[in-house]
Formats: sequence, structure tokens, C-alpha cells
Amino acid sequence: MEVLIFNKDVNASRYAAKMFAKLIRKKPAAVLGLATGSTPCLLYAELRQQHEEEGLDFSRITSFNLDEYVGLDGDHPQSYRYFMQQALFDHINVHPGKVHLPDGKSDDIPANCVDYEKNISAAGGIDLQVLGLGSDGHIGFNEPSSSLASRTRIKTLTRETREDNARFFDSADEVPQHCITMGIGTIMEARQIVLLAFGERKATAVKQVVEGPISAMWPATILQMHPSVVVLLDDAAAASLDQKDYYREVADNKPDWQRI
Ligand code: GLP
Repeated sequence: MEVLIFNKDVNASRYAAKMFAKLIRKKPAAVLGLATGSTPCLLYAELRQQHEEEGLDFSRITSFNLDEYVGLDGDHPQSYRYFMQQALFDHINVHPGKVHLPDGKSDDIPANCVDYEKNISAAGGIDLQVLGLGSDGHIGFNEPSSSLASRTRIKTLTRETREDNARFFDSADEVPQHCITMGIGTIMEARQIVLLAFGERKATAVKQVVEGPISAMWPATILQMHPSVVVLLDDAAAASLDQKDYYREVADNKPDWQRI
């Protein structure tokens, strides 16, 4: 696990954008794993800018989002489909048929989840997956106690997550109780993963993810078992890490060929 600590979230987001841009330039038909929430907003702003100003070409990419609320239509302003359209898809040259989110209004959720997994495999698997981090350590919507081998499925959100996400709704009670999320096993099959976490609200979860024991009670700790994970933090999110000085030393002394 590579841990990079930045003075500002915008600088961490620029680094993540460089990782995506490098991949897309090398592999124009790359398969991207995308996330929602506040955390990736600056990353998506940077990618929009790279598309507008540098012609970063998304025309051949395929994407799969991590999750979606059950019961919300794609045009509901709090649906993750709507979020992705506003934050990214409407501003870049993606092929609309190649961007995928779970269908929160599906009549047959288990079948939709099986199809989602099949579609990821048929596309060749995810090349680069971006993740945010729940304050309870969730990735996607894999809440504490999720199987570390889980696949795409329906989940019930914890009260903590519904309260965290209430800021996007009128109240916590309006936040749907259920979601569809890629499983932890699904996420772990991505070839490379970049996890972003910003702000002091994430510091406890970050400490667990980077330096804690692997546990289903902090689902993101499973990332310690992935061979290619980059964790991008701001100072506030990194505040509780014991080995901060070492992570900085590693970053400062990286050989040139390892830099992006
Ligand atoms: C949400 C999403 C996650 C996201 C996390 C953090 O519930 N399902 O994918 O990473 O919670 O959200 P935020 O980035 O807004 O802090």
C-alpha cells in the first residue's frame, strides 16, 4: 500500500487525475471503476478540465460505478446516476452505452447484480478503481460486517452512513435504507485501486485502513491484501497515522521511474 500525504485535497485529487489520464492515454479503451460522494468531486473536476483543455479522450472507455441507492430513478437528484451525469459524464465524451451503474429501480435486484458482475467481466475487468471511504470504514456501500469476499448485492445502510449522507437529502430519514453495491471481492479484482480520504472526519477510518488489523468491521482494511493500492490523503485525514514520517520519506525518495 502506497500512502501519499498532501497539504490540500485538491493536490491529492490532481494526483489521482494524473493516474487516470496516464491510464487512458496508454490504454484508450480502459475500464474505469468510479465512485460518488463528496470526495471524488475534485478529481472529476480535474478530469473535466483535462478533457476540455488537453483533449483527454474518454470516447473508448467503459466505466462501472460502485453503487446506487435502491428506489431512486436515475433522474432523481440524489441518485448516484444523476450525480455522475452532473459531475462527469455530461461534460466529457463518454459513450452513454458504456457507462454503468447498478439499477436502483430494478424489478429483479439479484438478477441485476449478477448481470453487473457479468458485464464487468465481459468488459475485461476494471483497470483502475477509485474509492472514497466511509467514516465507518466502508468502501462502496460495504458496511461493517460485510463479507470480505462479497459480490455485487443489496445492502442495508447503517444509521451512521444515512446520517453522513443526510446532507444531500432533507433529513436522514429520506436517505434510502437500501443500496446496491459492488462487493468487496468485486472491488479487490480491480487491477489498481486509488483510495481518497480527506478531512478529520476520516482520520480514524484511515488509521484502521493503513495501520490496523484486517477486519470485516473496517471493510476497507482488506485493501492491505491488494497488490496495487495508492492511498491519497490530506493532512487532516492522515493525522492519526503512526508512520506518517516514513510514508513521507518513501514518497520523497521515490525513484523517477516510479513517479507519474
Ligand atoms: C458514500 C458512498 C461511498 C463514499 C462514502 C464517503 O456513502 N457510497 O462510495 O466513498 O460514502 O462519502 P464522502 O466522500 O461524501 O465522504
